[in-house]
Amino acid sequence: MCGIIGYAGEQDAVAIIVEGLKKLEYRGYDSAGIAVSGEGGFDVVKQKGRLAELEARLECTPLAGKIGIGHTRWATHGEPSDANSHPHVGSKNRIAVVHNGIIENYKKLKERLEQKGIRFSSQTDSEVIAQLCEYYYSGDIIETVIKVTNRLEGSYALGVMCVDEPDALIAVKKDNPLVVGVSANGSFIASDVPAILKHTNKVYYLDDKEIAVIKKDGVEFLSIDREPLQKKLETVTWSPGSAEKAGYPHFMLKEIFEQPKILRETVNSALSGENKSVIDSLDVTRYNKLVITACGSANNAGTVAKYVFESLCRLPVETELASEFRYKNAIIDTKTLVILVSQSGETADTIAALREARSKGADTLAIVNVVGSTIAKEARFCIFTAAGPEIAVATTKAFSAQLVLLYILAVNFAAQLGRLDNSTQMTLLHEIERLPDKVAEILAETDSIQKYASNCVGYKSIFFIGRNIDYAIALEGSLKLKEISYIHSEAYAGGELKHGTISLIEEDTLVVVLSNCERLYGKIMSNAEQVISRGAKVLLIGNSPAAESGEKLTRIPLPACYELFSPSLSVAALQLFAYYVAANKGLDIDKPRNLAKSVTVE
Ligand code: F6R
Repeated sequence: MCGIIGYAGEQDAVAIIVEGLKKLEYRGYDSAGIAVSGEGGFDVVKQKGRLAELEARLECTPLAGKIGIGHTRWATHGEPSDANSHPHVGSKNRIAVVHNGIIENYKKLKERLEQKGIRFSSQTDSEVIAQLCEYYYSGDIIETVIKVTNRLEGSYALGVMCVDEPDALIAVKKDNPLVVGVSANGSFIASDVPAILKHTNKVYYLDDKEIAVIKKDGVEFLSIDREPLQKKLETVTWSPGSAEKAGYPHFMLKEIFEQPKILRETVNSALSGENKSVIDSLDVTRYNKLVITACGSANNAGTVAKYVFESLCRLPVETELASEFRYKNAIIDTKTLVILVSQSGETADTIAALREARSKGADTLAIVNVVGSTIAKEARFCIFTAAGPEIAVATTKAFSAQLVLLYILAVNFAAQLGRLDNSTQMTLLHEIERLPDKVAEILAETDSIQKYASNCVGYKSIFFIGRNIDYAIALEGSLKLKEISYIHSEAYAGGELKHGTISLIEEDTLVVVLSNCERLYGKIMSNAEQVISRGAKVLLIGNSPAAESGEKLTRIPLPACYELFSPSLSVAALQLFAYYVAANKGLDIDKPRNLAKSVTVE
């Protein structure tokens, strides 16, 4: 949540920062702002609303400079407003700060500063950092940043500038991500790699309480005790084009269409590439249960995986929302493997769940998309989805990549546990290798989904049902639809419908029915009949042979597929359905209201 960027170099800092903020806008879009060093203080422009509004403001109030910081905000403390926007500047206009995170003790710190006569101009927790910096500043900005961060409780990624040191930008972080980029044209800080990818793919990942001093000709790293640090320069493999829309109207659609490619790459890396050695090093015979924990869609991937693992491995699997797992005193020990699933690798609840699992002695395996992220670094084992940068707030390609890695793990574990003979193992892996082509088949024929979705914009509520693995993926279909179309939606296990929800079914209610479990075709079709006989319309996604399209039922068939892996196909259809409903409503699909891509606060 919140995106920060900073630049020091020979080029126009404002243009670089605005461009970087565009790539970070998915992290928050309540307001945005920029500060550059000016004559005797800072020149700051900040504006409530989308980045486009800041750009319009910059046309009337141009800023110029070769070093600066920028911020795009997801409001936590204080409403979205100009005053609450970052950068925050201390009352003496000597120090400017951008902050991502939450300062938990800000009230106490603010009260003390107010007692000393310092006047605050915003309701944010972040302003306290700028004011505290000015309060402690006595000529040495690094010393000041050390003093201030030692007094902060909570999480932060900070970019700090001081008028007395117009050539330097200080960065420090705790529990929130920050990368430092270097290039021949200057140095950068950013919350995420895509913001600077156009300029450099050479980055340092800052660890907690490490300080980076950014200057136009390079970067210096210090520990919180001011000892020099040697950090490893990493090369990012993502291409600059992967963070562009490439002619698609929305990143979400582009990312849906990237799925065949990224699935192929993810499968290859697990079967013969970098992930393979990690997967091969896992000894599942050491565990008596698996726990999969994550948030949102990543948790839905975990729910799909529970069915796959239990079916193939006959090993108990628990799935638990990370926000619950972290506080429930989970029954886990050294014989538990806790699997953390996260696109960003920075979700606060998932990080806390990981730390909780480690503190109880459990082994941890992360499935993460962002290299260098906190979860990737802290988990004992980590495998990476090869999804590339995912910009749309609603996840699509990263989710699909998580699924295939989880299938491959399940097959590997089942083989280790002696549940699969060699030939079945090969057959299943071959089935997984064929998934990208089958997803491509679905994406080549979007007309019927598009047409159906165009008639769905008026619904107040849409239900999703399925049984077994179809129920698991119905959860994701429903989440995808509600988050981007703002249509109320819930997903139920087909058998559960009669225990309450069916009372909501009335004339023309839409129920999306997933039907890919052969032995349950009859059961799910009778659920479909039950809602149709109460006036509902059914959109049936899957291969149930009994279902013929008619006045009340429309069927979207999917390519034939091994049942346990069918969620990979259903989800492509569900993503397209959600996308086209939202597109027909003319909504801001890539940035749904109130959401942010990377949820780094509780
Ligand atoms: C929904 C969505 C979110 C994320 C969740 C976890 O489309 O994107 O529900 O799945 O916030 O995020 P990560 O995977 O980054 O931990």
